[in-house]
Amino acid sequence: MKIAVLPGDGIGLEIMAQAVSVLKTAVGNSVALELVEAPIGQAGVDAAGDPLPAETLEIARKAEAILFGAAGVPGDEKIPYAMRPGASLLRLRKHLDLFANFRPAIMFPQLVGASTLRPEVVEGLDLLILRELTGDIYFGEPRGFRTTASGERQGFNTMVYSESEVERIAHVAFKAARGRNRKVCSVEKANVLECSQLWRDVLVRVGQSYPDIELSHMFVDAAAMMLIRAPKQFDVIVTGNIFGDILSDCAAMLTGSIGMLPSASLGVGNKGLYEPVHGTAPDIAGKDIANPLAQILSAGLMLRYSFDRPDLDDRIRNAVSNVLSDGYRTVDIFEPGTKKVGTVEMGEAVVAALHKLPPR
Ligand code: IPM
Ligand code: MG
Repeated sequence: MKIAVLPGDGIGLEIMAQAVSVLKTAVGNSVALELVEAPIGQAGVDAAGDPLPAETLEIARKAEAILFGAAGVPGDEKIPYAMRPGASLLRLRKHLDLFANFRPAIMFPQLVGASTLRPEVVEGLDLLILRELTGDIYFGEPRGFRTTASGERQGFNTMVYSESEVERIAHVAFKAARGRNRKVCSVEKANVLECSQLWRDVLVRVGQSYPDIELSHMFVDAAAMMLIRAPKQFDVIVTGNIFGDILSDCAAMLTGSIGMLPSASLGVGNKGLYEPVHGTAPDIAGKDIANPLAQILSAGLMLRYSFDRPDLDDRIRNAVSNVLSDGYRTVDIFEPGTKKVGTVEMGEAVVAALHKLPPR
């Protein structure tokens, strides 16, 4: 398994160290692991003067999968896009055409009490947000700043989707639903935006080839409300880049903490980029308090999707589940009566739990 390891910035470094040791333990001697570490984000700027150094991109291109931490520094939205540490991830996704972003929100029963929502609303939750990742207002042209005739500054972006971009994510959604509860909810804002009307038209058309899947449509504002009110009505939510960004943070909190949510970004082949849904969390970086579980679970998704080893992903999930059952909690999921641990201790507990699982 040839893997590019890109820890990035902030808590990325700490949580990646734990994910790598869990990964090594899970894989054991069954396969040769080749891990190539490279800097990205501010770390890329420090090492090579570019948030996405050419060498890092080359390593990512050559790898079979990429395990990514988090990139960015506080206030970096003021830096021009091409040199902005936080945008390095966007550039990497685009370069590798990783258009399908899987953000599963699955409730560990042990954490039902850690959610800010009532237990009956979130208990047993298992939903998949499928976010289109390489189009939309994130990448649409023209974009930039301009000055109007009256001398006022404007910022502008373009929300745009082509039919082919929507078609390919639609197929991914319907296929994913086949392995689940066969329901796809397409989320957009077709009552206001042409871009969303096209999205909906394409979803309806592609859906005709999947008569076994129930397709519904929801406006994004209603979807945000429904995620909080009755999230268990959803199976697969498919949506564009910016709506998916927002809704996946919402969905993360349903499961107790954004520190629990892994993600997989796939293109056409098996190659993928695996990263936690959360970011660099600069306020808690370097304090050994960040939750490493989203990064650890991302390594599990990598084994499942890029290396066709769902068995190893299951082992990692089981180990995480056992650690939670034993009461280990980082501060973001802590409740009275559980055992508060730091990043390193949580990672070590998962490694120990892997060793205790029955052999493969
Ligand atoms: C995410 C993040 C990124 C995004 C940021 C860090 C650019 O919020 O992966 O959800 O907006 O896609
Ligand atoms: Mg986000």
